[in-house]
Parts: sequence; structure tokens; C-alpha cells
Amino acid sequence: MEKAYMNNFTYQYPVRQHFGKGCAESAIKEEMVHAGSRVLLAYGGGSLKRTGLYDKIAGWLHECGKTVTDFGGIMPNPTYAKVQEGARIVREEGIDFILAVGGGSVIDCCKIVAAQARLEEDIWEMQYTRHLFPTEFVPSGAVVTVSGTGAEQNNRAVITNTDMKLKQPLVGSYHSFAILDSDLTRTVPMKQVISGAFDTLSHCMETYMGKPLSDNISDEINEAVMRNVIRNLRALVADPDNDFARGELMWDSALAENSLLKLGKQTDFQCHMIEHAVGAYTDCNHGQGLAVIHPAVYRHLIPEGTEKLAKMAERVWGIREKDPSVAALKCIAALEDFILEVGLPAHWSEMGITDESVMRAAADTCLLTPGCCRRFTRDEIFSILKECM
Ligand code: NZQ
Ligand code: ZN
Repeated sequence: MEKAYMNNFTYQYPVRQHFGKGCAESAIKEEMVHAGSRVLLAYGGGSLKRTGLYDKIAGWLHECGKTVTDFGGIMPNPTYAKVQEGARIVREEGIDFILAVGGGSVIDCCKIVAAQARLEEDIWEMQYTRHLFPTEFVPSGAVVTVSGTGAEQNNRAVITNTDMKLKQPLVGSYHSFAILDSDLTRTVPMKQVISGAFDTLSHCMETYMGKPLSDNISDEINEAVMRNVIRNLRALVADPDNDFARGELMWDSALAENSLLKLGKQTDFQCHMIEHAVGAYTDCNHGQGLAVIHPAVYRHLIPEGTEKLAKMAERVWGIREKDPSVAALKCIAALEDFILEVGLPAHWSEMGITDESVMRAAADTCLLTPGCCRRFTRDEIFSILKECM
């Protein structure tokens, strides 16, 4: 593989990080000093109240002198309608700070609520028709209760437009801070912990397989993060009380999305775009959908991705094999074995998805990414999706 200079970049990172076991209370109180007095407390479908965390956080906010307005019921794979509901509440209640408490779904929804509340026009229309992006936002922060997406680290949200049958990225606000307290994730069902960690591994792989493919420092850091995810997910599955592994996975998730691994690279993210398209029709779990798609897509990246997959084989999976073509196949096999080992699905049917017309529609609507080393046709994506059924 010919050596290629990394792409030029300018790097500035806007999200303050509070990381640590048990750091939530002090971090929230510290941040609230700088926040407005009317806080929107945003959360998901029920876990926050069930686990008692809602009462704790609402109490801390009251101690800080804040007036708290609820915005609950944000669903996994948040919808555009829910974004509009949040924006309406922000305007009507004169909210001056949004605190997103949850996983990728709550955190993403709030990035767009923060933008839509300050816009006269419809943000979907603005971005997808007029190709303009928001510049003013209601200030916001994120408290992570389930890790994996790294959504707290970036300003892109994935929103499902149910009317259009599209699940696509929108650009919103950066949260000004991210609170990463692994204790808050102790109540997450193991199935979700596993799918979240696989999402992190997927973000790493999608970045690693982007251009340039030749060796560079971003990819070398990435290799370390991938090894760390694999090791610590194994450790956490073996012992759910392993707080060390929980914390490592939480920071892995942040590292995969806080731009560091992406510096100087054009990322791939074709697997993600295919998963999102299937998600628009099925509302499927994100990490599980990625587990189904990745090995099949990588088999189709041969020969373009052979050398890079061979590097991943050696440096991430510890496979010793001189022939790159064989090593690339062994890399894909190691990934498939890992998916089985941690109990993730390998086929759509295991997720209850059996309708071939959904696969055709997803293939026809998914975004095609310029960073992928192979330019797929829609028919090839349909074949990939059928291989996974
Ligand atoms: O809704 P509740 O009742 O809170 O339950 C949630 C939800 O069912 C539960 N949960 C969260 N914290 C919990 C908990 N259960 C017990 N204890 C806790 N402490 O976990 C379930 C999943 O939550 P969700 O936020 O949907 O999961 P995740 O963090 O995986 O987020 C998925 C969304 O993020 C998008 C995905 O497409 C999907 O819409 N992504 C966003 C990205 C970004 N902005 O950078 C990148 C990703 O690639 C991804 O696409
Ligand atoms: Zn993801």
C-alpha cells in the first residue's frame, strides 16, 4: 500500500469532559453554575424514573436553584415529531438550558431541539433542501446513562423521519459538556451494553477503513481503542460488576466519536448508512443491526479493502498470516466469531426482520458514502442485505 499523507485538518474541540465513577453529582452541580435558570430535563421512555436517577438529578437541579421542566418519553431511534415537540416546549416555557440525560437517542434528540427552538423554519427542509445548517442554539449538556454511540461528543444527530421513512443525520448543537459516570450505566440490560459496545467498535472500524488506508497516527490510536473495546466487553460479559471494564468502554465510546480518531481521515461509515436505512423501516436496535451488516459488507470490500483488513487482522485480532488475502478473510472470520461469542445477532431473522421488500427499500434509500473504499451499487447493497437475512 502506497504511503499517503493524512488529509489536512484544523482541530478545535468544544465539549468539556467529566469522566469518572461517581462523578455525576459534583459534575452536574459544577456545570449548573454556568447554566440558565429554566432547565429542560430531557430523558427517555422510563428507565430514568425506574432507576431513581430522575429524582436524584431533579433534586440536584433544585438545589442549584433551577426551575425544572420535563421532556420525557424520547424513544430509541428518536423521531422528527419528538424533536418538534421538544422545540415547542423550549419556546413555550422560555427554557434557557437543556440537560439531556440518557443514551444516543435522548442526546441526539436534544441537539436538534436546541437548534429547532431557535429557528423559524423547518430544520429538515433547511438541511436537506436548502443545504444550510443552524448556527444558533439553546445551550445544552449531556449526562450519559448508556454508552456506546459517543453521541455526547459530536454535533450530528440521527433522526427518524417517519413520514418520509428516512433515518438520517442532521447537524445540531454540540453539548457544552459530557458527563461520563459509569455508575449510571450499571442498570443497563446486558443486551444493550453489548450492542452499545459493538456500536463503538463499529465506529472505530468505519473510521479505520476510511481514506487514506495507509498507516497513520489516527489509525494507530484507533487500533488501541479497538483492542480495548474487545478486551473490556469480554471482561464485562464475564462479570457485569466489573466497573473498571464499564469505565473503559465508556471512554472508548467517547474516543471513537470525539474526532481524535478521525483527524486527517475521510471516514467510511457505509455500514452505518445501510443500518440506518433498515432502521427507518424496522426501528431495529442500532448496535445489533451493525453486527449483522459488518461482516457481509467487509466481504464485499475485497479486494479494495484487503490490505487494511489484513492490518486489522494482525494488529487488532492478533492473527499471524503473511498472505494479505488470507489475513483479510481471517479478520472477517474473527469479527464473526466475536459477534457470536458476545451473543449479538448475525442475521436479520434473529431480530425478527424477514421482509425482503424492506431490504430493497433500504438499499434504494441508504446514503452512499464517499469515504468507503468501494463505491457500491444499490443492487450490490441489496445483495449484501439479502446475504444477512
Ligand atoms: O428509554 P429508556 O427507558 O431510558 O431506556 C433506554 C433505551 O430503551 C435504555 N437505557 C438508557 N439508559 C439506561 C437504560 N436502561 C437502564 N438503565 C439505564 N441507565 O437503553 C435503551 C437504548 O437507549 P438509546 O439511547 O436508544 O441507545 P443508544 O445509546 O444506543 O442510542 C441509539 C441512537 O443513537 C444513534 C442511533 O442511530 C440511535 O438512534 N446514533 C447516534 C450517533 C451520534 N450522534 O454520533 C452515532 C451512532 O452511530 C448512532 O447512529
Ligand atoms: Zn453507531
